[in-house]
Amino acid sequence: MRPWTPDIDLPDHERIAHAAAFCERMATRHSCRSFSADPVPRAIIETAIAAAGTAPSGANRQPWHFAALSSPGAKTALRVAVEEEERNFYGGIGGSEWQGLLRNLGTTADKPYLEIAPWIIVAFGQTKASDTDRFPNPQLVESVSLACGLLLTTLHLAGLATLVHTATPARFLNRLCRRPELERPIMLIVTGHPAPDATVPAAALERKPLDQIASWF
Ligand SMILES: Cc1cc2nc3c(=O)[nH]c(=O)nc-3n(C[C@H](O)[C@H](O)[C@H](O)COP(=O)(O)O)c2cc1C
Repeated sequence: MRPWTPDIDLPDHERIAHAAAFCERMATRHSCRSFSADPVPRAIIETAIAAAGTAPSGANRQPWHFAALSSPGAKTALRVAVEEEERNFYGGIGGSEWQGLLRNLGTTADKPYLEIAPWIIVAFGQTKASDTDRFPNPQLVESVSLACGLLLTTLHLAGLATLVHTATPARFLNRLCRRPELERPIMLIVTGHPAPDATVPAAALERKPLDQIASWF
């Protein structure tokens, strides 16, 4: 135990200014689906993962593991498996209405960025602390997702582009990243520098205003 000490002692008007500056910075974050192959130092990825590890978690189980892939062999294997899964999805499983929505965002079954981007981070959630543990980790997806939010934020503040990608096919990722079966892949985070021709789809520019996402009592 240690006494609670405020990180920064500020007057309210400065707190408001800090919050507003952060919000403005985060408003520039967008998913990138066209990356350049320019390298990104491992130190940035390490720091972003360390920041992710500061997230709150159910019962403080810190039920996350981040596998960072940069080797061409691992990224190619990942791309092949993900594209196969995506072709099934775009080939029908996803339903045409859902596919229409995704087309507006510029997503297709082709994922060249999985090979081109310098880093792919696979976020795993640990269902239990160990095989012999009788209790499952509570609020697994919530905890890992919060950690991923901090990861994305750190990468964005470091000036990198990111993309969250649904983590399929699940078991393949365990084999590729040599993670035990008690861990579940939760999401992939692609990061690097944007390609010179990268664009933000118009649909992604529409963000709900505050009065639609908040209510006050
Ligand atoms: C859990 C999750 C899974 C996602 N999966 C994909 C995906 O598989 N492919 C993709 O292109 N974008 C994916 N996205 C990105 C969203 O499409 C994107 O965040 C959304 O369109 C809003 O755009 P923005 O990130 O530019 O604000 C995912 C986002 C989240 C949060």
